[in-house]
Amino acid sequence: MRAPIIAGNWKMNPTTLDEAVALAHAVEAAARVAPSVTAVICPPTIWLADVQRAIGRDGISIGAQTMHFEERGAFTGETSPLMLDGLVQFVILGHSERRLYDGETDERVGRKVASAVAHGLRPIAAVGERAEERRAGETAAVIDRQVRAAVGGLDSLTRTGLVIAYEPVWAIGTGDAASAADAQEVCAQIRQILRAADADAADAIPIQYGGSVTAENAGELFSQPDIDGALVGGASLKPDQFAAILRAAARA
Ligand code: PGA
Repeated sequence: MRAPIIAGNWKMNPTTLDEAVALAHAVEAAARVAPSVTAVICPPTIWLADVQRAIGRDGISIGAQTMHFEERGAFTGETSPLMLDGLVQFVILGHSERRLYDGETDERVGRKVASAVAHGLRPIAAVGERAEERRAGETAAVIDRQVRAAVGGLDSLTRTGLVIAYEPVWAIGTGDAASAADAQEVCAQIRQILRAADADAADAIPIQYGGSVTAENAGELFSQPDIDGALVGGASLKPDQFAAILRAAARA
């Protein structure tokens, strides 16, 4: 009942416009192998308009990597939801790199999610525990706190377009993905939290896993009942790898 969503988070790559447009075209061609899967690319903000023009309105979906919750004002370097209107369908919010390097707090992630929904953008709200939190047995408590905060500004979860991405921080960019069983356990916990917030909507909300997803481990991850796709970093810069992940999602 939940169609899988595979989102590629390009992070601060590639570094030229020509490369960004070429990568978008390559990913778009690759995505044709799995038309049943929603494929999303999330280029750096500065390339969004050109990438959108290059792939057109009927192509793959586009997401931003972050945004501010305010519409306008004295927020140097930031991007307003109004500026993303018409450019992107999705926006990643609360990625662990933004939490770590840019002071993104639970409270701000909640405001951003509410702002995205209010502006008709689909938030991909990222949550996940750090290695030391996992070692201390705090994973469930961290997830509970982050998910509640992320959805805390929404009156209802129905028709919000919300996506949650579970990304254990220790698995991001390390080659050390969570096991399918561990990822499923946390994604099931996330669905329980969503159910408590809005029983009717929870079963329709896609929950992605992210953290060293590859063509090799994608199939097993996607076979889990509460994992509905992936937020992909490194492998999203390689169209062949991304296509293989899309195919794995189509098979699941
Ligand atoms: P990774 O990144 O796939 O390179 O581990 C995932 C992410 O940060 O979203």
